[in-house]
Amino acid sequence: METPQVGIIMGSDSDFSIMEEAANILKQFGVPHEVLVASAHRSPGRTRSYVKKAEKQGVKVLIAGAGGAAHLAGMLAAESHLPIIGVPINSSPLNGLDALLSTAQMPGGVPVASMGIGKSGAQNAGLLAVQILALEDKKLHSRLVQYKKYQAKEVEIKSKKINSIHDGNP
Ligand code: RP5
Repeated sequence: METPQVGIIMGSDSDFSIMEEAANILKQFGVPHEVLVASAHRSPGRTRSYVKKAEKQGVKVLIAGAGGAAHLAGMLAAESHLPIIGVPINSSPLNGLDALLSTAQMPGGVPVASMGIGKSGAQNAGLLAVQILALEDKKLHSRLVQYKKYQAKEVEIKSKKINSIHDGNP
């Protein structure tokens, strides 16, 4: 098995339906990764020992998804020197606004790259991890170039579809 380059950590198994978006991106780009549940609040010891182990074993980027009073990404940032990408999960009565603020509003000196709330945030977390790794990996970089080209092509196709239905400009 290849050494994971990215660790995806989530506060609860209930976060998985969101966080699998990040895992799917990493799969799509062929980036070896690992996924685990570890909570800043409910299992701080497990979270701390994972970070230490991951850093020693060569993981290069950590992605953390948590909802509510989300401290997972912040805890990882406090405990490691790896780039930390946070994904606020919309699992609370506040629909993720609480998690967004907890993830984004880190004190100076302890950075977390906070994504947007929910699935698009998780997808972007996967892509940001790929972009970080692509700085030192030419193959990955060319896959990113292809991804962007494909994305732009999709927009054109969507536009043509709308034009054919609406029959307007341009
Ligand atoms: C957070 O509380 C988790 O990240 C999750 O988003 C939320 C609810 O967790 P469960 O009660 O479903 O385990 O810590």
